[in-house]
Amino acid sequence: MRERLEELRRQGLAALATAGDEAALRALEVRLLGRNGELTAVLRGLGAMSAEERPAAGKTANEVKKELAAALEERRQALRGAALEQEFSGAGFDATLPGPPLPRGTLHPVTRLQRELEDHFSAMGFLIPDGPEVEWEANNFDALNIPDDHPARDAQDTIWVTPPGDGVDPGLGVCLRTHTSPMQIRALRRFGVPLRCVVPGRVFRNETQDATHEHTFHQMEGLVVDRGIGVPHMLHAMHSLLELVFGRELETRLRPGFFPFVEPGFELDARCPFCTAGCRVCKGSRWIELMPGGMVHPNVLRACAVDPDEYSGFAFGLGLSRIVMLRYGIADIRWMLSGDLRFLGQFHA
Ligand code: FA5
Repeated sequence: MRERLEELRRQGLAALATAGDEAALRALEVRLLGRNGELTAVLRGLGAMSAEERPAAGKTANEVKKELAAALEERRQALRGAALEQEFSGAGFDATLPGPPLPRGTLHPVTRLQRELEDHFSAMGFLIPDGPEVEWEANNFDALNIPDDHPARDAQDTIWVTPPGDGVDPGLGVCLRTHTSPMQIRALRRFGVPLRCVVPGRVFRNETQDATHEHTFHQMEGLVVDRGIGVPHMLHAMHSLLELVFGRELETRLRPGFFPFVEPGFELDARCPFCTAGCRVCKGSRWIELMPGGMVHPNVLRACAVDPDEYSGFAFGLGLSRIVMLRYGIADIRWMLSGDLRFLGQFHA
């Protein structure tokens, strides 16, 4: 047994020292140390030895195994080093060339549209203030003419940080904002009149999710308050926005729509940009609801210390996430927050 092991050590080390490449090394590894290799065959013979001889033979076998494994690793490193050396010194290697390109990230489609709209409106002199996602109940509802008992609150349930009622003074609750409209209040109080601004942002609602409803989505508020502002001004702002989004003029219609913070209130619909005879998106009607808006309610102006007899204004609330769906033909809004790179990777510039 001892002689066989010595022979294996000698031959194995010699073969490893001269192995010319990785493939030869791998073959040697299998032949010497593999499950059906030569060392394993010798070890199988241990069982037939006497109890006195077995420990010494086992110890030697282990030493041979370790020695061969170390020699194998050493030869592998040497071969790799030599290969690299050859690659670096060979003709055609240029260390000054740039490496392979790194995969580049992309802007989220909502961010991209948001930035395009910001550019569009700031070119027309609009401010773009930022506002908090955690908002006073008073700004999200009360100052927008939605008092505590108003049914419009039910349509915009949300997560309450400090719930209203129950010992909390009316209006002093704190919630995740349900729309960007509280920024009408903040912007008017902060900047006063005349005022032109758009406010993009994330909003939250207690919604049952489906293909067009998310609990977290993006809106963009538009607000203009000045002397002599009327519905035609609002229509111009809405049309220029839609032209930018869809790259062409869309036929639109204005319907009455109710929002407590505008009077009169409207819903702007556009001719479905995807079909001529009805499709899945417009559900056969050939119109799609795009943007609510209206003339700022006098109570909202008063809540911001603006005299409604002197000033008037319009506001609109664009559903950014939904517009992005229409723009890119995205069938399900839930892709937006999925973080799925297969989805996001499609929006390279
Ligand atoms: C509002 O949020 C009003 N603040 C809009 C407004 C502003 C009206 C200024 C008048 C003046 P509404 O709840 O309809 O209104 O939402 C506005 C848009 O947000 C909708 O047209 C839709 O595009 C989008 N939206 C509403 N709920 C969801 C949802 N759960 N998921 C995705 N988008 C939504």
